[in-house]
Amino acid sequence: MKRNILIHPDPRLKKVCAPVDDLSDELRALADDMLETMYDAPGIGLAAPQIGVLERLIVLDCVKEEGATPRPLVMFNPEIISASDETSVYEEGCLSIPDQFAEVTRPAEVEVAWMDQNGKAQRETFDGLWATCVQHEIDHLNGKLFIDYLKPLKRQMITRKMVKLKRELARA
Ligand code: NI
Repeated sequence: MKRNILIHPDPRLKKVCAPVDDLSDELRALADDMLETMYDAPGIGLAAPQIGVLERLIVLDCVKEEGATPRPLVMFNPEIISASDETSVYEEGCLSIPDQFAEVTRPAEVEVAWMDQNGKAQRETFDGLWATCVQHEIDHLNGKLFIDYLKPLKRQMITRKMVKLKRELARA
């Protein structure tokens, strides 16, 4: 089932999310809903708070090439174990901040540990777009958005645009 994606500003996007300690069928179904919502948007990552669920769960799939096999990843309690000193810059966007993009500098490589949909512990090193995406999504679980990395003026400009967009959506 497709879920509604919250648009910034929303207090639920600023909260630190709670760890998942019991992997229920409900949470597994939620992960499937999040993947469906992400692919439909379309996007390459989605965090639970973006659909109003304040738990530590993210989904991502950064395979973008036409015709390539998708690689949906579901991560409960994702944690960055280590990050490279080397950085990379990507133009980031966010499904909660539609049509706004800005360059963000982050570690180029990160090792991430998480629990998968079967409750199994996983660990993997990501680079390229995957590294940026997984960091962006984990930030969501800590109430942090990519615009928080921007200069205040730019951030305020984007926020004002989103306030206007939400007003228009509410009227439609
Ligand atoms: Ni986002």
